[in-house]
Amino acid sequence: MFLLIFIVALLIAYFITHRIFVHRRTFNGTAKLYGKTVIVTGGNVGIGKATAAGIAMRGARVILACRSKQRGEEAVRDLIQETGNDGIIFMQLDLASLKSVRAFAENFLKSESRLDLLINNAGLASPGRTEDGLGMILGVNHIGPFLLTNLLLDRLKECAPSRVVNVSSYGHDVGTIDFDCITTHRRLALGSSDADLFKAYTHSKLCNVLFTHELAKRLEGTNVTSYSLHPGSVRSELGRDINEWFTRIIKAFVSKLWATDTVSGAQTTLYCALQEDIEHLSGRYFSDSQLVQVKPEARDDGISKKLWEISEKLSGMA
Ligand SMILES: NC(=O)c1ccc[n+]([C@@H]2O[C@H](COP(=O)([O-])OP(=O)(O)OC[C@H]3O[C@@H](n4cnc5c(N)ncnc54)[C@H](OP(=O)(O)O)[C@@H]3O)[C@@H](O)[C@H]2O)c1
Repeated sequence: MFLLIFIVALLIAYFITHRIFVHRRTFNGTAKLYGKTVIVTGGNVGIGKATAAGIAMRGARVILACRSKQRGEEAVRDLIQETGNDGIIFMQLDLASLKSVRAFAENFLKSESRLDLLINNAGLASPGRTEDGLGMILGVNHIGPFLLTNLLLDRLKECAPSRVVNVSSYGHDVGTIDFDCITTHRRLALGSSDADLFKAYTHSKLCNVLFTHELAKRLEGTNVTSYSLHPGSVRSELGRDINEWFTRIIKAFVSKLWATDTVSGAQTTLYCALQEDIEHLSGRYFSDSQLVQVKPEARDDGISKKLWEISEKLSGMA
């Protein structure tokens, strides 16, 4: 009898946690995007590739902004075959190099006349430093997208109504911003253990939420809006550089039970990119295609302004 109650309790706990962390509403928006141009960073794999497919199916021209030419071009071939949209192209972008971000923006602005949607999706949880000496996680997850967005803002304004969508994570909720560490060490956290990488990752995801908050304020009145989101717990290549035994167990066991596929993982991004009438929610954070209130530190005007100013310095804008 005890065993039976225990099993039923386990099953109930599983269904509840699955509902909260894994289940994703499907975005069924019927908007047609013919004549629109969309950039998806990290669109060659994972959530980004599924997002690019969802956008391309609706008829937009899609720019896959990826660091690897080979992986990017392979993804372009797959996506053209999958969606029947031949307006999908690869453009090289390495977010771990400010020079590459600038070159991408220059190339894009020269060769493309429109920008209707910028989807800052690419991200990692890897050790090391960027070409410019920033902590890899700070550089790729925040400073690169910060610079990219700013370099493309005038084009977004010209094409308004337009949007910037920043893929964050529920992990932002345990993140903090240590301005001293950023200023002194040009990193989000010290140490190189897996736990330290995870810490820096959650901090970077808080940066995404604060960046979205500040960007929305700065864009008021322009008809360019900005949203951040949690895609869900998704089976992808994200944990590739975290190798300790517990992450192997998570991959082998937990992610099978508590993670979803990349198509489901793209639904909240598609919602933020395409849902009609959410402009008044610019600057806010979404999960499972629903508005979620973030903790006070993630919507604090003073912190978001300070992060913006430090980001201007680290990206060479100021
Ligand atoms: N998976 C989850 O459960 C989960 C949960 C919360 C949030 N997220 C967020 O969702 C986003 C997508 O992650 P994912 O799960 O789809 O991971 P993924 O499968 O590892 O895809 C990450 C993408 O980012 C690209 N990327 C990494 N470093 C880059 C750089 N320096 N320059 C340009 N692109 C770079 C990768 O390119 P390569 O293929 O060349 O490496 C890849 O295309 C990330 O922002 C992540 O933080 C994911």
